[in-house]
Amino acid sequence: MTHEYTVPAPDVDTAELPEPGAVTIVVPTFNESANIRQLLHRVTESVPARLPCEVVFVDDSTDDTPQVIADAARDCPFPVTLLHRDEAVGGLGGAVVEGIKAAGADWIVVMDGDCQHPPHLVPELVATGERTGADLVVASRYTAGGSRAGLAGGYRVAVSRGATWLAKGLFPRRLRGISDPMSGFFAIRRSAVTADVLKPLGYKILLELAVRSRPARVAEVPFVFEERFAGESKSTAREGLRFLRHLAGLRTDAPLARMIGFGLIGASGFVPNLAGLWALTALGVHYVPAEIIANQFGVAWNFLLIEHLLFRERRAHRRWWDRLGRFALLANADLVLRIPLIALFVRHLGMGPLTATALALVTTFVVRFVGTEALVYLPRRRSRAADVSRG
Ligand code: GDD
Ligand code: MN
Repeated sequence: MTHEYTVPAPDVDTAELPEPGAVTIVVPTFNESANIRQLLHRVTESVPARLPCEVVFVDDSTDDTPQVIADAARDCPFPVTLLHRDEAVGGLGGAVVEGIKAAGADWIVVMDGDCQHPPHLVPELVATGERTGADLVVASRYTAGGSRAGLAGGYRVAVSRGATWLAKGLFPRRLRGISDPMSGFFAIRRSAVTADVLKPLGYKILLELAVRSRPARVAEVPFVFEERFAGESKSTAREGLRFLRHLAGLRTDAPLARMIGFGLIGASGFVPNLAGLWALTALGVHYVPAEIIANQFGVAWNFLLIEHLLFRERRAHRRWWDRLGRFALLANADLVLRIPLIALFVRHLGMGPLTATALALVTTFVVRFVGTEALVYLPRRRSRAADVSRG
């Protein structure tokens, strides 16, 4: 549930929104009470005189940040909206999408709430978009004149660089022209946002927008990533794992890419499978039961990866044990069916054993992939009875 409060601006000179050329500044906040006044002060000093603006905070705080925002907003010469979410769905990225949906202006600038992103660049980001006809203008730390001065420590610098390379390697075309796809500071035209296809997960909302909304033209403006004004970064190792899941989800969105992902995960399952087989036979288990048990290790491994990397968005309609049961059934059926299939190919189609085995592997792989999509992760069609009872 989202609560919305609009704090009326006291200054009657402020332009009414929406209007062409105006900007909505979307700020996600999570426990930033010590930064809010400073941020709004800097926005007040550098934006409204050059560009009519409104600010939309999307807050998931557990501290008094909402109260501080409501208080500070009374002194602002522009409208301030506060959306407070009871559940932080999608984390930072989810919050930004909520803010984008609530935006009234033609341009939206997304900016952190801890003053690491200098507000005086907001008018320049929008002006660059207007001048170049770009739909997306990224404030970049990695272009001439930009800097990551405020990135705390060599470790964060290395992680940020590695993440940038990984993302650019996975999406060379979609991220062409974006030197800093990890930036959290950018301007986007509202007409270029396709909010309904976005599936934000965690910090990298720019990556989500660049890959799924596919803005036609992109421009960049260098910026210096400042030190935090107060408080600490909310990013954790957990956020790093979320980023990898986010990347996997983006990369395997197309059916063919998903099938390749399925195959790679399946191949990686040989590791726990063989390790299990080795351990069990070392313990003195006969190799036939050992094979069967070890195969379940591989199945469990594959299931975990597939759940989290491939079908994250499509799990809600079945309980986890239902999904695991169906998945395990398909995986074991694959194993049981392969031998008779090979026999069939050899005897009735006259194939050599090698060709027959290869063909059987491919066949069972495709059947298993299609089966997993259809029987485990395809949303169930609602029955007529359910329709009637729902009115
Ligand atoms: N609503 C909401 N919900 N806001 C959040 C959440 C959340 O779950 N998590 C973080 N935020 C807010 C913070 O309160 C802050 O205003 C902003 O998002 C950025 O969070 P930080 O914790 O300060 O992030 P950072 O400084 O480590 O990372 C920033 O810079 C990176 C570049 O190195 C972000 O902009 C990243 O997206 C960016 O990649
Ligand atoms: Mn920060």
